[in-house]
This record gives sequence, structure tokens and C-alpha cells, in this order.
Amino acid sequence: MKRLAVLISGRGSNLQALLDAAAAGRLRGEIALVLSNVATAPGLERARLAAGVAVATCESAGRSRQDHERAVQEQLRQQRIDVICLAGYMRVLSPGFLVEFGGPVLNVHPSLLPAFRGRDAQRQAWDHGVKVTGATVHLVDAELDGGPILLQEAVPVLDSDSPEDLAARILGAEHRLYPAAVNLVLGGYRVSGRRVLVTN
Ligand code: GRF
Repeated sequence: MKRLAVLISGRGSNLQALLDAAAAGRLRGEIALVLSNVATAPGLERARLAAGVAVATCESAGRSRQDHERAVQEQLRQQRIDVICLAGYMRVLSPGFLVEFGGPVLNVHPSLLPAFRGRDAQRQAWDHGVKVTGATVHLVDAELDGGPILLQEAVPVLDSDSPEDLAARILGAEHRLYPAAVNLVLGGYRVSGRRVLVTN
């Protein structure tokens, strides 16, 4: 089984969706490591409750990007990680980090990319007045929220929605998509231009 690391900074609900899928035998890989750049991230508790998952903190505050990334790479090496899943990880990984790791790095984003990149994507969509938004899981490359798209799910914006209602509905889509996207990557894929094609 391929070994996954899930990188978080906060709540960890997407981490939970991945842990639940693994516990139910619905994930093609094994979650070997949960790593946070914030020692107080509530999501770390979810990882501690899961069997067989190593938990690590590599603080990023007050450290250079280089020092932080070196510490993360060391953890990834120790745990022989094949695939990284970013799940609310609030640090941009440098191109050098991605090259050094070498394996696939996935990220979940709360919009239908390429619309509404960056922070507060749910709020951006609500403010813009779109009628449909959604969630995306994509491969990470050097461009922020810009890598090839693995899976997307559309989410309607209702007239009665507050930004919080909308964010909650999008989060449900994220939780469905992320385990499926991990399975897609572990099952075999190739990238042709910007398009991700399933090869199995
Ligand atoms: C999610 O909305 C994800 O799309 C974004 O950060 C949020 C993390 O939520 N990148 P959680 O920590 O997984 O609950």
C-alpha cells in the first residue's frame, strides 16, 4: 500500500474524511503520517485517535521557509511517504520542495477552479453572486491553486444561503471528493497538458 501524509493547519475535517475512508477500507492507500505546521491545530487530535498514524508538528511561525520545509521533508523521509495530501495546510510549498519530494501532492480547494483562487473562496463566490460553485481536488504545482484538476463537484448557491451555509455545503462536497481523488491517483493516472487522465 502506498503511504500517505496528510498536512493540516487547523480543523482537519478533510483529514477526518480521509481517516474515515481508510478505516472503512475505502482508501487504496494507508495514512501513515499527519503533520501540522501549527502545534495547536485541532485536527491533530483526530490523528492521535486514529490507529497506526504517526503525528508530527513542524512549526512554521518564526522560521524561514527553508528551515520549515527541511523539517517537513525529514518527516516525510522518515515515514517513507509516497503521496502528500494538503488538507487546509496554510503554507505554500516551494517549487524546490515539490521537486525534492518527487511524488504526487494533492490539495482540496473550496471552489470550482480556476474560479476563486486563494483565501476565502466560498466568500468570494457568494460575494460575486455566482449561482453554482463547488469543490476541487487538484495536483499541486508551482502556481497557487493552479495545478491539473483531479476531481470537481458542483454546489448550487441558494438565494437563502449565508456565506456560512454555502461554506458548509461545499465542505460536504470536499469530504466526498478527497478520498475519491486519492483513489484516482493511487489507481493510476497520467497528465496530458493540463488534463488528468485515468489509466487503470
Ligand atoms: C477547506 O475548506 C479546504 O478546502 C481549504 O481549507 C479548508 C480546510 O478545512 N483548503 P478542514 O481543516 O479540512 O476542516
